Amino acid sequence: MQFIGQNSNSFYATKNKIWHGVNFELLQIDFQPTFDRLKLVNRPFNLWRYREAIPIDIEAEIISFEEGFTPLLPLTFKDGTKALIKQEYLFPSGSYKDRGASILITQAKYLGIKHLVQDSSGNAGASIATYAKKAQISCDIYVPEDTSVAKTTQISAMGANIITVQGNRKETAKQAFEAAKKSYYASHCYNPYFFHGTKTIAYEICEQLDWKTPDSIVLPAGNGTLILGAYIGFNELYHLGIIAKIPKIIAIQSEHCCPIYKLFNKEHFLIEKYEASETIAEGIAIPNPVRALEMLEAITYSHGTVILVSDDEIMSSWKEMAASGYFIEPTSAACIAGLNKYLNSLAHTEICVSLFSGNGLKSIEKISKMLTIY
Ligand SMILES: Cc1ncc(COP(=O)(O)O)c(C=O)c1O
Repeated sequence: MQFIGQNSNSFYATKNKIWHGVNFELLQIDFQPTFDRLKLVNRPFNLWRYREAIPIDIEAEIISFEEGFTPLLPLTFKDGTKALIKQEYLFPSGSYKDRGASILITQAKYLGIKHLVQDSSGNAGASIATYAKKAQISCDIYVPEDTSVAKTTQISAMGANIITVQGNRKETAKQAFEAAKKSYYASHCYNPYFFHGTKTIAYEICEQLDWKTPDSIVLPAGNGTLILGAYIGFNELYHLGIIAKIPKIIAIQSEHCCPIYKLFNKEHFLIEKYEASETIAEGIAIPNPVRALEMLEAITYSHGTVILVSDDEIMSSWKEMAASGYFIEPTSAACIAGLNKYLNSLAHTEICVSLFSGNGLKSIEKISKMLTIY
């Protein structure tokens, strides 16, 4: 399958334990999805209902909590703008990362992996630890020292070994990467199976819209697991002839950490040298995303853009959502603040979808602290 704008130099994962190319290049999965809408009729409403579009051998034991098919609810902001919001904070581990974890861990189990390594700002680690527990695979999860206590507690409760790295997210990734050379890297950034889980958000949105595509999709931009997953999913549906267009991908970053914004606006070219400052949106505080060029490609070819939000705007959106009954993470509020800005920039209304990416219960101590400041 040739994606719109696909880099022809992409390397391809094979059905073995390799998660990188010979020189540690990033891999894609060479896979032709098939898809028959009629087959969906009697299937349970979870993400595995798109079984033939998921690159996992038919013999594999599926590691799942019947996750997915999260509600798509309308939201009206106090300024009157409207969007549809996928309730991705309702996943078993509390974030959309379970989409990727279910597929990646299913593949790891199928490959006979007994031990794996992962690194994260917390949510991906909690998710991988949860699914690894279900699959009875032992794991080491690397987290930065400032990770929310709720997330580290959740990871430990799942029986994973936590390695707290004295340093930031970048240092954490570096240490995990080294450790992974002697294990299996269940990374949500490097391991291409993760993206074939997050892509199911595109399948679900289209099904929930009666197989129509939204005009735009507003997504947080950290390591790009949602942006790239959504781009793969919409591309597949487009090439399968199920949908007529690919929505514009609108990426949201914090003013304090905006490497993709800089790249998109040609203000910065050496992504690995970009330096960020602190933001309350920890999940998107990724200064050097390894798949930055792929993210740029997805945004550009979908005719999207990148929007920045300040910590004040994030907190104001967080409060507005709380006042509407949604208890979400500050990182999720960053996306919603960007969504509100995007909707206000439009000359005409359009069908726009976004999401609540993580549950506020994961960041209680950070939220309490923020409420004393803002
Ligand atoms: C709650 C939440 N939202 C959004 C993100 C953004 O991540 P990505 O760009 O990898 O999809 C993260 C990443 O950890 C997260 O935890």
